[in-house]
Amino acid sequence: MKTIAYKEFGDTGVLQTQDEPKPAIQPDQILVKVRAVSINPLDWKIRKGEMKLMSGAKFPRHTGTDFAGIIEDAGPAVANFKKGDEVFGMVKNNMKDGALREYVAVSPTSVWKKPADITFNQAASIPTVGAAAVTALQKMGGVNSNSHILIHGAGGGFGMFLLQLLKRMGANTTAVTGTNAIGFAKRWGAHAVVDYKNENVLSQRTTYDVIVDLSGKLGYKNAKQIMKPRALFLNPVPKPLDILTTPVVNLFRGKKHLALLTAPSQENIDLLLNAIADGLEIEVSKVFPFAQAKEAYKYAEEGGYIGKVVIEVN
Ligand SMILES: NC(=O)c1ccc[n+]([C@@H]2O[C@H](COP(=O)([O-])OP(=O)(O)OC[C@H]3O[C@@H](n4cnc5c(N)ncnc54)[C@H](OP(=O)(O)O)[C@@H]3O)[C@@H](O)[C@H]2O)c1
Repeated sequence: MKTIAYKEFGDTGVLQTQDEPKPAIQPDQILVKVRAVSINPLDWKIRKGEMKLMSGAKFPRHTGTDFAGIIEDAGPAVANFKKGDEVFGMVKNNMKDGALREYVAVSPTSVWKKPADITFNQAASIPTVGAAAVTALQKMGGVNSNSHILIHGAGGGFGMFLLQLLKRMGANTTAVTGTNAIGFAKRWGAHAVVDYKNENVLSQRTTYDVIVDLSGKLGYKNAKQIMKPRALFLNPVPKPLDILTTPVVNLFRGKKHLALLTAPSQENIDLLLNAIADGLEIEVSKVFPFAQAKEAYKYAEEGGYIGKVVIEVN
């Protein structure tokens, strides 16, 4: 079967198409014929060697976390899935494994049935950013129409889910996006949009109850200037030191800094599936064929896309 693998850390040039045997499944695993894989920034952070502490440095390595496809085989201990089911899911340990291949062997605990009315490309776009958006909501606690929330970097996958979930809760959201994402941010529920290419959100005189820094470019120190006295700063790309120190430092300050780390649960995915059934939109703005996986990563890494970028496998 075809896979995309790499034998050293680096830019997209290290990605190679490779032939490998179809994976064998354990009795409690399923084999999925992959139809689509969505790109997440974490894929290239791992590939560039930025996560070495967690990923280790063993080669060859595969890439891609989130996938959708059709079950080809299910082990005898698997009760809830059967051959032919359309599913979406994620590889359990994206620091060691990757989904960008023709077949992937996975545990049924990280796979869910695909709603019939969304495409494989849309389904492959759900797990990492969808579950992260639900986790962000949970960290915010009670959100209502009095909650003023800033989503900094709202035009990508995470922002797409988060804005729409917040809209359903009636929150008052401001999105910071590039110029091309303004229309989408409004459509996804933003009450106001700040175009980061032309305006500086820090120089506007608005303060927020919650700031979610999806761009990784704002930072807590800057954000403090526009946080209300007891506001929350959610950081989905925390440094290891932040994870260790912020819980203690938060005890002594009003403006809290929280690391946001996601582990998708059945509960999170159920909430997303209900929202999707209720009209939450999944925008896949660019699709590449498997043969152009390198170009797909190059495109995604340059930024400027809306929602998700997907690689079709078959
Ligand atoms: N901790 C977790 O569990 C978890 C889970 C999922 C994702 N994440 C992280 O969360 C972040 C967001 O995820 P994503 O998938 O939505 O990434 P993404 O698709 O790359 O979205 C990031 C957005 O930030 C915007 N941006 C870039 N520079 C900016 C600036 N200076 N000011 C304002 N916005 C700016 C980008 O717009 P342009 O492209 O137009 O520049 C882009 O739309 C990533 O760092 C990802 O790794 C963490």
